[in-house]
Amino acid sequence: MSDQSFQTLGEFIIEKQDDFQYSTGELSRLLSSIRLASKVVNREVNKAGIADITGHAGKTNIQGEDQQKLDVLANEIFIEALSQREVVCGIASEENDDYIEINCNNNSHMSKYVVLIDPLDGSSNIDVNVTVGTIFSIYRRVTEPGKPVEMRDFLQKGTAQVAAGYVVYGSSTMIVYTTGNGVNGFTLDPSIGTYYLSHPNLKFPTKGKIYSINEGNYIKFPQGVKDYIKYCQLEEDDRPYTSRYIGSLVADFHRNMLKGGIYIYPSTSQSPKGKLRLLYECNPMAFLTEQAGGKASDGYRRILEIEPTELHQRVPFFAGSAAMVTKAEEFMAKAVQAEEK
Ligand code: AHG
Ligand code: MN
Ligand code: MN
Repeated sequence: MSDQSFQTLGEFIIEKQDDFQYSTGELSRLLSSIRLASKVVNREVNKAGIADITGHAGKTNIQGEDQQKLDVLANEIFIEALSQREVVCGIASEENDDYIEINCNNNSHMSKYVVLIDPLDGSSNIDVNVTVGTIFSIYRRVTEPGKPVEMRDFLQKGTAQVAAGYVVYGSSTMIVYTTGNGVNGFTLDPSIGTYYLSHPNLKFPTKGKIYSINEGNYIKFPQGVKDYIKYCQLEEDDRPYTSRYIGSLVADFHRNMLKGGIYIYPSTSQSPKGKLRLLYECNPMAFLTEQAGGKASDGYRRILEIEPTELHQRVPFFAGSAAMVTKAEEFMAKAVQAEEK
C-alpha cells in the first residue's frame, strides 16, 4: 500500500486549506461537519432494517413527494450538525419548504457560507437495502455577513459554488467532493469511523459504454432522447451500450464516473422540467462532473450557467463522459430542428 492510502479526510481537508487565499479555516470546519454528519447518517442507514426507520413518515415534502422516515432523520442530522457548530449562516434542504437562517450565539450570522442539501437521495431504495446518498452544495453568501441570509444567497448560479460533493452509502460508504481543484474520493473504514483517501483525482473516462435512464418513461420522452436511446442500442462501432439504472442519482452517477457513462433524467410530457432539482441535485453533480473532466447539461445548455429562480426548481439533467453528453445534445438539437421544419 502506498503512503497515500493512509491519508485521512481530516488531514486532507486541512492540507488543502492553503489552496484558498486568505483562508480562515471556516470552509474546513464546514466540510468537517458534513463528514461527521455523514457518519451518523451512515450508522442509521446501516441499521435501517432493524430500527423501524424504513417506510413512510406519513408526510409529503414541499414537492408533494412522500417523505420516508430516513429522509426526515437524515435531514435533521445534517441540519443539526451544521447549525450547532455554527459553520454556516443558512441552509436550504430538499425536505424543507423554505431556507433556514442560522442565528449563531456569539457571532450572529457571521459565517459566510450557505449549504444546499439533498439529505437522502434515492429514498425509494431505502426499504430494499439498495444504495442511497447525500448531495451537498456550498456557496459564499452574496449579502453582507452579520445580517440574516436572504433568498438571493441561495439562488446563485452553479458556477459560483465553492464546494460540492456527495456521500454514497453503498457496499462501502464514500465521500466524494470538490473544492474546484479536481475531485477526490474517500472510503469509510467503519471499524474505526475514519474516511481514507481511496480515489485521488477522479476523472470520467472520456467515452463510456453505460447509459442510465428510467426507460419505463420512454413513451413520454422528448424525440431527441428517444433517438439517442436508439443510438445507444444500435449494433455499430462500440455499441450497443449497456443500460444500468439504480434509481439513486448518487449511485448511478458514481458508477458512471468510475466506469464511463451518461446519466439522463429528461423532461417528460407530464413533467416538462424533469424531476431532479437544480439546486440540491443538478448543480452539485454538474460541478463534480466538470471537475472530473465530464460534461453536464439540460440537453441544450450548461447546467452551471442556469440562473435559478426558485429554491425547488427542477431541470432536465444529462451528465457524464463528455463525448456521450455531446452526442446526446446533438440528438436533442437535431430533433428540435426537425420539428421546426
Ligand atoms: P430523492 O430520493 O432525493 O427524491 O431523489 C430521487 C431521484 C434520483 O435520485 C433518482 O435518480 C430519481 O429520482 C429516480 O426517479 P425515477 O424513479 O422517476 O426514475
Ligand atoms: Mn434526490
Ligand atoms: Mn432526497
